Amino acid sequence: PTYVGLMGWPVAHSRSPAMHNAAFRALGLNWHYLLLPVAPDDVGDAVRGIRALRFAGCNITVPHKQAVVPFLDEMTPTAHTVGAVNTIINRDGRLIGENTDATGFLRALREAGVDPTGQCALVVGAGGAARAVVYALLQAGATVWLTNRTQARAEALAETMQAVGRGVSRVLPFEREAVQTALEAATLLVNATSVGMHPHTNAVPLPDGVRLLPHLTVNDLVYVPRQTRLLRLAAEVGARTIDGVGMLLHQGAAAFELWTGQAAPLDVMRSALEATLA
Ligand code: ATR
Repeated sequence: PTYVGLMGWPVAHSRSPAMHNAAFRALGLNWHYLLLPVAPDDVGDAVRGIRALRFAGCNITVPHKQAVVPFLDEMTPTAHTVGAVNTIINRDGRLIGENTDATGFLRALREAGVDPTGQCALVVGAGGAARAVVYALLQAGATVWLTNRTQARAEALAETMQAVGRGVSRVLPFEREAVQTALEAATLLVNATSVGMHPHTNAVPLPDGVRLLPHLTVNDLVYVPRQTRLLRLAAEVGARTIDGVGMLLHQGAAAFELWTGQAAPLDVMRSALEATLA
């Protein structure tokens, strides 16, 4: 058998084993996706273990996406610029760090019928998810505006993306008036924060009093619950909504393809994922 898995702390909540193991079964591969709880102090040993145990690779999640970097042999340009690794590929003992969140986000957006090229996107957030999203949107030729509760983090993010596409065009203060004005001009709103996620499902990742507008496409990366309060408010005003399941699916599919060299069975993976979210 061949093994892959997910290193994080904690990992028990993850939907990835269901999604990947269903795909392996569908293609008749004797591969297994394991949950690998790795405590912060053990990251180096665990990453070296990928080589020792001849795993084909690993997914990496919170809080290790940056911590694994010093233990890798190589970083793809995407992982390097995003500054975080969610997928490690073991190429004959050489460990390569990749970030499939960026591609996963774009594939999900395009699958939902949205082409970000030439659009103006307001991204909320400045953590790991936001970095992948901003990178992907800039690469795709979108105009990107950024806002975050802690403005200094948004400014730092913008700084590191200066050379990608046209760079982040504006960092907005996280205030009602600034965000409202931005939403009038933007076409796409992406929530890349954890706000609205279970169990705080009443929260909305925007300053108080901001109104959503019907011309917007609103993409929430939160997937538990699938229908967040933000998406409900967006639907109420007639905006187009995209939930977070697509990005989760496509970041996994991209990792699957890198590990196995085979096309990911998307329908099988989507059904397995949806069954865990039902
Ligand atoms: P991840 O890597 O999953 O994106 P993260 O680095 O912890 O996680 O980032 C979480 C994001 O959610 C940040 O943008 C954070 O804002 P701050 O930078 O101000 O911390 C945002 N966030 C979390 N809780 C929030 C809240 N209650 N209100 C507004 N933003 C919040």
